[in-house]
Amino acid sequence: MARIVGMIATSHTPTIGFAFDGNKAEDPVWKPIFEAYKPIRAWLEEKKPDVLFMTYNDHVTSFFFDHYSPFVLGIGEEYAVADEGGGPRNLPPIKGHPALARHIGNHLMAAEFDMSFFQGKPLDHGCFSPLSVLLDASNGWPLPVIPLQMGVLQFPVPSAKRCYALGQELRTAIESYPEDLKVAVVTTGGLSHQVHGERSGFNNPPWDEQFMDLLEKDPVALTRMTHADHARLGGMESSEIIMWLVGRGMLSASVKSLHRSYYLPSMTAIATMVLENQAEPLPKREAAKAIEKAGEQLAGIEELDGTYPFDLERSVKNYKLNKFLHDLVIPEHRQAFVADPEALFAAWDLPENERQMIRDRDWIGLNRYGAIFFVLEKFAAVVGTPNPAIYANFNGMSLPDFLKTRNTQVTYGTGGSESHDKVEATAAN
Ligand code: FE2
Repeated sequence: MARIVGMIATSHTPTIGFAFDGNKAEDPVWKPIFEAYKPIRAWLEEKKPDVLFMTYNDHVTSFFFDHYSPFVLGIGEEYAVADEGGGPRNLPPIKGHPALARHIGNHLMAAEFDMSFFQGKPLDHGCFSPLSVLLDASNGWPLPVIPLQMGVLQFPVPSAKRCYALGQELRTAIESYPEDLKVAVVTTGGLSHQVHGERSGFNNPPWDEQFMDLLEKDPVALTRMTHADHARLGGMESSEIIMWLVGRGMLSASVKSLHRSYYLPSMTAIATMVLENQAEPLPKREAAKAIEKAGEQLAGIEELDGTYPFDLERSVKNYKLNKFLHDLVIPEHRQAFVADPEALFAAWDLPENERQMIRDRDWIGLNRYGAIFFVLEKFAAVVGTPNPAIYANFNGMSLPDFLKTRNTQVTYGTGGSESHDKVEATAAN
């Protein structure tokens, strides 16, 4: 069974990454930052975790307000370093752990946390600023990460209480994973700071120290605070420290505090903590119950012939294929496909079997393989295939025979000015 070994709490301010990239370890101004991470690196070397579970917030880099979610779990195979305006930092991409991530995702949904999931998005300084000082990435990152992105920038934002409850559920989620993995939690966010408005530059070191005391010894007291309470005591942007409560909820009520540091060089209080988990492992019967509950909603689905639920495993495995077909909604991608599909296959480095299914308009092959129907209907609109022709292909029938199974013999597509006439013409033949 997987085991949570403890939690590293750390600020994620870009100053940390900036100091690291500038080799400022011996500069007296920056030195305290590097000193703070030495004991944490030693702890990681001693504990040798297999995976990091990391809470962070994106800073309107990969997650914008066109679609903003509170709890967004990374389920992908790999995460690149985001470009935050000055080009990406010179760090390699870091691997994800899709199998554990989807176990966690399934568990949380069954526990009625309505999660969002992401993949294919780069991570910004919220993750890579602390990662670059926690781990040596000179030969690639030594272990994978599961990022939990928290939407704390656009209110309403989950309450401190909800974050703590999520952490408690995450503990069962992780510790019910059947493989023997050691998981270290890294929970990030700055302590007191405000970076907007006339109050920008606000800090409150005495409150920061009290916050760390409470996080260690009485986290429930912190769950009673509102976002306005946090803003009053620590500055508006410090309300992101509710992310520390997610991590704290993943540990035993009583923890062993191994390390703590605090440094305020500029706008954001840079703080670190290491809290070791003191809990007994999750009892086997509790783990079995959790696994059964996580699978409850789709239990028995495999008995339905010709049914392929689009779950997290299917989604991650077929991300590129689905994206290739989905991006046909983008005029440039669509035009490139129509003009020279082979060149676009090559540019995307699609595997040969996927290229062949697309060339053959092998609708059922694509669907069985992992393309969701709703990207197939976009592909169909591009090539002028009516939707009922896809269903006919799914059923191994001709279009006229399939239409006989319907109450009316209509054909149609998703429409649009480019495809309507093509679909009508195909249907007429
Ligand atoms: Fe932040």
